[in-house]
Amino acid sequence: MKPGNAFSILIFGASGDLTSRKLIPALFRLYCQNFLPEGCPVIGVARREKTHAEFQEEMRQIVANRMGDKFDAAAWQQFAGRLFYQQLDISSPTDYLRLHSSLQAIELAAGAGPEPTRVVYLATAPALFAAAVDGLNAAGLIPPRELSGKLRVVVEKPFGRDLDSAIQLAAELDRHLLENQIYRIDHYLGKETVQNILLFRFGNAIFEPLLNRSHVDHVQITVAESQGMEGSRGGYYDTSGALRDVLQNHVLQLLCLIAMDPPSLFQAREIRDEKLKVLQALRPGGSGGISSWAVRGQYAAGLVGRQPALAYREEDRVNPASNRETFVAMKVLIDNWRWAGVPFFLRTGKRMPRQLTEIAIQFKNPPLNLFSTVECDGDLCDIVETRPNQLVLRIQPQEAISLKFSAKRPGMNYHVQPVSMDFDYGEHFDTVLPEAYERLLLDVMRGDSTLFTRNDELEAAWRFVTPVLKAWESSSSSPELYAAGTWGPAAADRLISEHRANWRAPR
Ligand code: BG6
Repeated sequence: MKPGNAFSILIFGASGDLTSRKLIPALFRLYCQNFLPEGCPVIGVARREKTHAEFQEEMRQIVANRMGDKFDAAAWQQFAGRLFYQQLDISSPTDYLRLHSSLQAIELAAGAGPEPTRVVYLATAPALFAAAVDGLNAAGLIPPRELSGKLRVVVEKPFGRDLDSAIQLAAELDRHLLENQIYRIDHYLGKETVQNILLFRFGNAIFEPLLNRSHVDHVQITVAESQGMEGSRGGYYDTSGALRDVLQNHVLQLLCLIAMDPPSLFQAREIRDEKLKVLQALRPGGSGGISSWAVRGQYAAGLVGRQPALAYREEDRVNPASNRETFVAMKVLIDNWRWAGVPFFLRTGKRMPRQLTEIAIQFKNPPLNLFSTVECDGDLCDIVETRPNQLVLRIQPQEAISLKFSAKRPGMNYHVQPVSMDFDYGEHFDTVLPEAYERLLLDVMRGDSTLFTRNDELEAAWRFVTPVLKAWESSSSSPELYAAGTWGPAAADRLISEHRANWRAPR
């Protein structure tokens, strides 16, 4: 559904990577699909002086490059007419007054209609979020409470560095904005297959009754990336690390979706209430100090897909003596009636053998072992341990759902062999899955905050990971090394093998 009202979109941080790599392409695709409201201008805001034409040309080159032969030059020509640029120094109050008057002129010129709803996307360094909101307020760009729906502010992660800074950031934003005006983006929630988790669980009757401590042995959540510190990423990453960058947000959000109870309504508040309960019930999965349930690693030089890869400490803009983790694995428990005692193994890392995001639910073995299980190579079979049923939701790439179970191997023996039933998104739906940012930007315009993180969820996630961050940052020991192109350090294998299980390592 196309948003009904008149809109204008401002992107603070318009010279940054996120704007050219994700936001402008997403807005362009929305425009091509006729989802962008009539006359809605897209105004890039950044510190450098630039004309509208220069900004349009800069964006055209980047988007055309990224889209390759899918780039529609004629459509871009029309879309470019919606692109504007405004110079602004985030810390200069007079610049906001200038912004206010240019904005009205641009909205008029674009034909946005009177008093459009404004979406302000803060794609800047997080240290500038509060200054930007203060500046908007001082220039009268924040509407009074009764008209709060007229302004929506989108914030990009990181939302703080730990619990205290997240609380402080929330207080700074709260000075001028209401919670329902703030859209905290976790782009994982915009992925089609992440949204499918809830539909798969609560739109089918047969799986949900099995997802609890009576039937599930353990759950594994993996967000693996083969990439390292592309471009100038090392500078940011070396102040962040895998726990802050991916586990605190994307991995915990996946955990919430797979573990939460059914919401009473499929609406933002009800869904976020259920997610929050999961985060509040999170407990460490070991009782012998942090190392008994959380491990960290850092990649050493190695081969990723046969290509040599540098060690993390040799990457551009990374401290050569850095102790920053590029891998983290955790065993966590969810202390509620549904999940008590079921370990959730979480892991994420850079420079792993391949890109892979998946949730694997491993069920308990049948109570009685009546048959021998075999694994065969042609006609040569080995008797192996019983293979448990597994339900795997693959988020990316090659989005799929597969159910592994045992079937009788044809022949004179009562041997069972593990087989799998697979559903592949790409094969089944002959359509291109929308990019996460397309969906999320459209939802901001629709005023639907279901796929955005609420502040209490965010704080609950920080509350859980902050003790680990603090312990690692104050420790004099280094993360365990793993060779680039492998599935992480040996400590991660030990973490899961104590539960008599192994990480899935699909080829
Ligand atoms: C971002 C992290 O939030 O997510 C990156 O900052 C990471 O380090 C990225 O690479 C992963 O997202 P995706 O969509 O590529 O899986």
